[in-house]
Amino acid sequence: MLVGVGSSVPETYLTNHDLEKLVETSDDWIVTRTGIKKRHVLGKGETLAQHGIASAKRALEMAGIAAQDVDLVLFATSSPDDVFGSACQVQASIGARHAVAFDLTAACSGFVVALVTAAQYIRAGTFRTVLVVGGDALSRFVDWRDRGTCILFGDGCGAVVVTANPDPEAPGAILGMEMGSDGGGHKHLHCTFAGSGMKPLSDGADPSSHAAYSNIYMAGQDVFKFAVRTVPAVIDGALAKANLPKASESVDWLVMHQANQRILDAAAQRLGLPAERVVSNLSQYGNTSAASIPLALDEAVRGGRIQKGDKASSEWGIGQGKVIAMAGFGAGLTWAGAIVRWG
Ligand code: ACO
Repeated sequence: MLVGVGSSVPETYLTNHDLEKLVETSDDWIVTRTGIKKRHVLGKGETLAQHGIASAKRALEMAGIAAQDVDLVLFATSSPDDVFGSACQVQASIGARHAVAFDLTAACSGFVVALVTAAQYIRAGTFRTVLVVGGDALSRFVDWRDRGTCILFGDGCGAVVVTANPDPEAPGAILGMEMGSDGGGHKHLHCTFAGSGMKPLSDGADPSSHAAYSNIYMAGQDVFKFAVRTVPAVIDGALAKANLPKASESVDWLVMHQANQRILDAAAQRLGLPAERVVSNLSQYGNTSAASIPLALDEAVRGGRIQKGDKASSEWGIGQGKVIAMAGFGAGLTWAGAIVRWG
């Protein structure tokens, strides 16, 4: 069961007008082409883990579950404070002292991949309660002179609590799932290590120099086409695994990766879902990568749009709760979809 959700974003934000001072762009171009109006970015000295911790605490509070009862903390991120992982910092800070903790990297698909991973551990009987955090601070890896990418990304975190359903007859939180990868598409979207190889063996390299990563490279149109093609397919695939009919008949809410309003609109149209069943908060946050789905879910739940305990469109025997279609897509290339019951 999904029993809690929370999110946290930095206070600092950049509006489109702020970006007009950095690159040759306009508020009108950004809104028309992406739907984004502002994006939050980490302030000086602020860490991603701080927001992971805050969103985890909020999700646990909503769930009414104590941190010491969490068995696993998964942190989906491609931009941790520490390349060795940030999940353990979240685990220690919230007091989840019995939990195993590790990071999982799958770019903008990371949250759904982590959710699927959580469900597998629960179904296998290995763990009962898993905290899934999705968060990124891609502002760290953006070239703020590149108008093709700097307008898109924002920083933030979101988290959900997934726990074993005590009713053995009840279906799980995840009714169906589908994932895919295509390393052949890596050339369209990457953020690679910028070192020349092994420091001691590189000619003339300063052995004490800092390791570095390149800025994000993205071939926008290729990724756009990939997303519009992949999202409906991965949701159709997850619906089929759940033995549910097509999205227009079975899905109450589409909560997909928030990358571009035009991608959201095109995916919803292909799935036959009207705009009022699509959750979008992209205008306020931009693309927050692994955070975008739990951040959108959190706002929709706390804002009363998606209500817990609502009667489901449950003629397919899925019990109480709204049916949410989630889909993530991004670097790798990777994609992942999950049909989730909420409430
Ligand atoms: N302001 C003004 N003009 C711009 C800007 C800008 N910020 N950016 C590009 N342009 C110009 C281009 O130079 C081009 O000009 P030209 O016609 O003179 O050559 C024109 O606008 C059109 O550029 P396109 O790249 O064709 O614009 P497009 O409509 O494709 O929008 C965008 C670009 C927003 C990046 C879009 O392609 C997109 O959203 N792609 C998908 C991104 C995505 O979903 N990423 C998700 C994964 S992220 C992850 O996994 C980490």
